[in-house]
Amino acid sequence: DADKNALKTRIKALLAERDAVLVAHYYVDGDLQALAEETGGHVADSLEMARFGAESAAGTLVVCGVRFMGETAKILNPEKRVLMPDLAATCSLDEGCPADAFSAFCDAHPDRTVVVYANTSAEVKARSDWVVTSSIALPVARHLHEQGKKILWAPDKHLGRYVQRMTGADMLLWDGACVVHEEFKGFALERLRRLHPEAAILVHPESPDEVVDQADVVGSTTQLIKAVTDMPNREFIIATDEGIFWKMHQLAPDKTLIAAPTAGEGATCESCAHCPWMAMNALQNLEQVLLRGDQEVHIDEDVRQRAVKPIQRMLEFSH
Ligand code: 13P
Ligand code: SF4
Repeated sequence: DADKNALKTRIKALLAERDAVLVAHYYVDGDLQALAEETGGHVADSLEMARFGAESAAGTLVVCGVRFMGETAKILNPEKRVLMPDLAATCSLDEGCPADAFSAFCDAHPDRTVVVYANTSAEVKARSDWVVTSSIALPVARHLHEQGKKILWAPDKHLGRYVQRMTGADMLLWDGACVVHEEFKGFALERLRRLHPEAAILVHPESPDEVVDQADVVGSTTQLIKAVTDMPNREFIIATDEGIFWKMHQLAPDKTLIAAPTAGEGATCESCAHCPWMAMNALQNLEQVLLRGDQEVHIDEDVRQRAVKPIQRMLEFSH
């Protein structure tokens, strides 16, 4: 603990020296989330992370999360330096949607409005009409549907199917999934619910249908955290990355939080629903990147100029 405190003190001094601010996602280690809050940074869902990057006055943004979050920060703030503890922190949705194959898919369906999830590369965003995050996917799809538009959706098929069912929009789906959320099991959740009949079920929409179908609240990380503080229930079963428990415990220390099962026999696995790429963010490599200034996000300017439009469209729509 003494070592950790010394490390944190050094990082705080480096942040001040480098005119840098931390932007962290709820899935990263609690130490990083706490440090972001203590140093004038921000802990948030993907949409709010994008917004904070643009609003912050600091010259350097250090994005603790995965690659697409750093890229979005850079796309919106080309004049700022954007660093990440480890640039290799990717996302299975991003990996499963290569730009060339995606572009060919779009070319084959020119009649459709292209809506991509934020969990994609800058190149894929550059090929889109709209970028959405989980917190805003439903209203954007509803808006397009009301305008009579047909949608091409990528890459998360589970989120896509959920949006399709909720809005009735005509959506053609790319076949991608989040390796973390895809592991939640509907049958095991049913069993766990019977053991906790008073618990509210909170589900991130990257989860499979049979899990989403059992939810009391489906939403982004921020929306699920809000449910824990706002709902009268004492117990919650939560189907999303376990990193989120840190903030939930902080805001609602008296409530009981139970991890949704990722395996059979009603198992409540406390450690299996955790994104391996989010886990690549740690105090140690945060200090290193501040010292060395490597692990900087760069985006080709032509790609950036095309990618910024659909992201701006999302930010304007959400206001
Ligand atoms: P949100 O924080 O926008 O809900 O996104 C979840 C996610 O998958 C980040 O990896
Ligand atoms: Fe991607 Fe899933 Fe990890 Fe989020 S939790 S970064 S969607 S793999």
